[in-house]
Amino acid sequence: MTALVHTRAELQPFLEGFANRKRGVVMTMGALHEGHLELFKRARHDCDLVVVTIFVNPLQFGPNEDFDRYPRTLDDDLKLCAEAGVDVVYAPAVEEVYPGGQPIVRVTPGAMGEVLEGEFRPGFFTGVLTIVNKLLNLTDPDVAFFGQKDAQQLALVRRMVLDLNMPIEIVSVPTVRDEDGLAKSSRNRYLSPEERTTALALSRALFAGQEKATEGADAVRDAATAVLKAAVATGRLDLDYLALVDPRDFSEAPPTFSGETVLAVAARVGTTRLIDNLPLTLTTHGAR
Ligand code: PAF
Repeated sequence: MTALVHTRAELQPFLEGFANRKRGVVMTMGALHEGHLELFKRARHDCDLVVVTIFVNPLQFGPNEDFDRYPRTLDDDLKLCAEAGVDVVYAPAVEEVYPGGQPIVRVTPGAMGEVLEGEFRPGFFTGVLTIVNKLLNLTDPDVAFFGQKDAQQLALVRRMVLDLNMPIEIVSVPTVRDEDGLAKSSRNRYLSPEERTTALALSRALFAGQEKATEGADAVRDAATAVLKAAVATGRLDLDYLALVDPRDFSEAPPTFSGETVLAVAARVGTTRLIDNLPLTLTTHGAR
């Protein structure tokens, strides 16, 4: 059975009960789907206590973003957590997480948080790192699990625990996709059937890029761009960015780059903004 708690005081006995055992946390904003389920399963496999947080964090939404309409589906979320064997769901109120109101002290990401998502969503990663830091303090885990789907968030969280000497292991879990390739996302539920078809351009672009991984960075970018250009030409998709980056700092991979990269894309379909990415290993120096 999954317990539901709303306060740190209610969570405390669970943390004490597993004081000398492995405690894991999966942070979410609710509206749970199969992507989250994979995170829960991995946490269940690796840890003795699995805590899932559900908190729609106002600090990471811009003024014109979807904070108010973000899906809140606690009853369904609890069922999914129970199926996955989650021990505790911690769903705090805004007042508990932000006891001083708008926080004066925040965790800022630096240059790596100002590109890609950071450029299109100013302040987003400050909001994310601040809440992740808070939820790590509140849930006190040994391990925290994050999805590869939010690749830049994952990379920044890894840097935060490294740079701030936080004794927490960060484990990443691969993106889960529908059969046709669309990455699972809480925001997919905003899409009409036609928009969902248009949205497939994101994953198709990534897979087209993947096919060129042995031909160098420019070939990867060109192949992905060709798919996205065709989608933009229909007038149904607006591209924010396509980038092939070094996952250590999210700088653009130069044409001669070989090794681990992330091919990342963000686009708007109707009023819904979607992101996706694929980790790619470039195996050539790509001279063309
Ligand atoms: O990835 C998310 O759902 C959120 O950014 C997170 C990590 C739960 C912080 O609010």
